[in-house]
Amino acid sequence: MGNARVAGIDRGVCVVTGGAGFIGTATSAALADTFRRVVAVDNLHPQVHESRERPAGLDHRVELVQADVTEAATWDQLLSTTRPDVIVHLAAETGTGQSLSESTRHASVNVVGTTQMLDALVRHDALPSRIVLTSSRAVYGEGAWRTDDGAVIYPAQRTRASLDGGEWDVPGAQPLPMSAATTFPAPVSVYGATKLAQENILRAWANSLGVAPVVVRLQNVYGPGQSLSNPYTGIMSLFCRMARAGRSIPLYEDGQVRRDFVLISDVARAVHAAATIAQPPLETVDIGSGEHQTIARAAELIAEHYGAPMPHVTGQFREGDVRHAWADVTTAAEVLGWRPEFSLREGVEQLSTWIDAQEHIPEL
Ligand SMILES: NC(=O)c1ccc[n+]([C@@H]2O[C@H](COP(=O)([O-])OP(=O)(O)OC[C@H]3O[C@@H](n4cnc5c(N)ncnc54)[C@H](O)[C@@H]3O)[C@@H](O)[C@H]2O)c1
Repeated sequence: MGNARVAGIDRGVCVVTGGAGFIGTATSAALADTFRRVVAVDNLHPQVHESRERPAGLDHRVELVQADVTEAATWDQLLSTTRPDVIVHLAAETGTGQSLSESTRHASVNVVGTTQMLDALVRHDALPSRIVLTSSRAVYGEGAWRTDDGAVIYPAQRTRASLDGGEWDVPGAQPLPMSAATTFPAPVSVYGATKLAQENILRAWANSLGVAPVVVRLQNVYGPGQSLSNPYTGIMSLFCRMARAGRSIPLYEDGQVRRDFVLISDVARAVHAAATIAQPPLETVDIGSGEHQTIARAAELIAEHYGAPMPHVTGQFREGDVRHAWADVTTAAEVLGWRPEFSLREGVEQLSTWIDAQEHIPEL
């Protein structure tokens, strides 16, 4: 079958790096419905894939190439037989806290993994029409805040001394939603810095060579399918496992940290839209749930669901964490025709049902 051009994009071959991960697996069926061939390039990293096996949820039509995106040979081998029309670049190290102690690992996969891919596409004269990058809200750091007298400020990174002293918030100011159109990126974690580097590298390269770069910045993604063995990501899964075990969930800082938890099926729709929409958006697109919650509220919902004791505040904190984060999703509606569909309560139901059905739940 030849490549068909439908609605502005070439529906031939889609390569998905990190395609066996949480978001890649959730998006795999929709991509396989759209493209003639979908090839996932994933090294089945042991921190994410405890058994190092093909995930059960990865659509059977997806060809899985087990390989490392940071190695030039991965790309030389792939591109000698495969000419991607669209690339969805998901492969990454994703641990915000871990990136402080393993910054080389994060830089290597997130930055060098991206540049190896781009160099190989040029070397093999195999430029796709578009590359979708899943960036992160981590690029914003603490984001923009509005002071009581109306000025917009960018608070400095919270220091260890201020956190040790329990100074969690910015006095006299309120956080604003994160929007690529108005919020200046200022990462406060190594992970966030590598995601911003990915964005900048991709845009510079793609715009120069006539490839469309589509950058989506995701808030906290959660839901069925997220690795239960990775101790560095997945706060909602962790909370569910704690509550399921009858424990009271410990809350960092004062429990009033705000996050935007967006359900995996909503994110999969957004990534699919970014890969297939006829007119690739020029704007960076923020993806979130359209609402924000305190961590305390999210934990209470989970505790109520499992009949566990109520969460408790510990006053501990994690370096590299920001105080508040949520997205303005109006651009996503305008340029991708995408809107979030699920509330946190519905998402918690789905996540807990999935966890309860797992044969193997790693020890806490
Ligand atoms: N999950 C979230 O909350 C979230 C939020 C913002 C952004 N993102 C971004 O979305 C993307 C996907 O995240 P996810 O939640 O699916 O993470 P994930 O860890 O489940 O998936 C990442 C996949 O990449 C693979 N991988 C890691 N290093 C690799 C390498 N060197 N070569 C090949 N494959 C490699 C892993 O095996 C894994 O399957 C990442 O780029 C991440 O930065 C995720």
